[in-house]
Amino acid sequence: MTRTITVIPGDGIGPEVTDATLTVLRAAGADLEYDIQQAGLVALQEQRNPLPRATLESAERNRVILKGPLTTPSGSGFRSINVELRKTFDLYANVRPVRTLVPGGRYEDIDLVLIRENTEGLYVGVEHYIGMQGDSRAAAESVMIITRYGAERISRYAFEYARSRGRKKVTLAHKANILKYTQGLFLDVAHEVAKDYPDIEWEDRIIDATAMQLVLDPYRFDVLVMENMFGDILSDLMAGLVGGLGFAPAGNIGADAAMFEAVHGSAPDIAGKGIANPTALLLAACMLLEHVEQAETAVRIRDAIDTVIQEGTHRTVDMGGNATTQEYTDALVRALGAA
Ligand SMILES: NC(=O)c1ccc[n+]([C@@H]2O[C@H](COP(=O)([O-])OP(=O)(O)OC[C@H]3O[C@@H](n4cnc5c(N)ncnc54)[C@H](O)[C@@H]3O)[C@@H](O)[C@H]2O)c1
Repeated sequence: MTRTITVIPGDGIGPEVTDATLTVLRAAGADLEYDIQQAGLVALQEQRNPLPRATLESAERNRVILKGPLTTPSGSGFRSINVELRKTFDLYANVRPVRTLVPGGRYEDIDLVLIRENTEGLYVGVEHYIGMQGDSRAAAESVMIITRYGAERISRYAFEYARSRGRKKVTLAHKANILKYTQGLFLDVAHEVAKDYPDIEWEDRIIDATAMQLVLDPYRFDVLVMENMFGDILSDLMAGLVGGLGFAPAGNIGADAAMFEAVHGSAPDIAGKGIANPTALLLAACMLLEHVEQAETAVRIRDAIDTVIQEGTHRTVDMGGNATTQEYTDALVRALGAA
């Protein structure tokens, strides 16, 4: 049955990479219909609301979202719409796979998955200024919240993910040596959950040492699970292991809704130039296809991406080539036709 999904092209390079992604999905014969909606800066400018009601209603109806990057002003301005969407639909697991696509990079054959807790930690948005002696911004405070419920469901998600995909090992990266309450609770709960998965190798590591080991010897890891902000930072580091943000997709998964996106942002420095690499959003679309049980189409698209990148004549600028987004997309469509 044809599945309708909500598509949010987003800001900056968002519309360019979304166009490319929809072109490839159509060429691959994905059995999807697209309900296009606005969010972010473009929605603020055109509808005076960065998260319009129509967008929320579409997402509530369809329960599956493909989202381009959204610009979030730093410091002042509206709060992150990405965080808002994750909270609204309780998308508690942020799944970020990284895989080597461009040969000749720093490492060959990287195949790792980071699972980031997506609703708690330091990103709950509980923060304020503390005034002192006439200075209303003398200090500022942000609260990290970890619940037993949140730590348990993300740990269990990581083990279930590993088991269902034939992966061998789960690593919890934490800072329980310093943050003994919040990170200590996460660590204790994960240890309890690990007992239910004797078939999966399990370890815990301090987050800073994990960052160093990921750079020195990424092959020692398989599935990694961690708190929200740690996962935000380490997933970008892991994207760096496979050639950068242009190749890093993310799935935000909840019990009854899911949102798929590229890890990268709206890239204002290259927006409108027609040179953005759409691969990350395409790989996110492949995760979406698996989620709606169209895994065969996802395999065909991934094969086409591998073929075009291996051939090397239609790589985008960030891959060391000079193809435009359109030329790269056309090459993918041709590769799909030949498959
Ligand atoms: N999920 C999201 O919607 C999301 C994620 C991260 C950042 N953002 C937002 O995006 C805006 C810009 O953030 P930033 O500049 O820190 O990060 P960014 O990811 O937009 O850009 C970082 C660098 O990577 C390059 N880059 C990113 N994606 C690329 C692609 N597909 N192809 C080629 N090059 C690419 C950019 O040109 C830039 O040089 C900010 O407002 C930020 O809040 C949104």
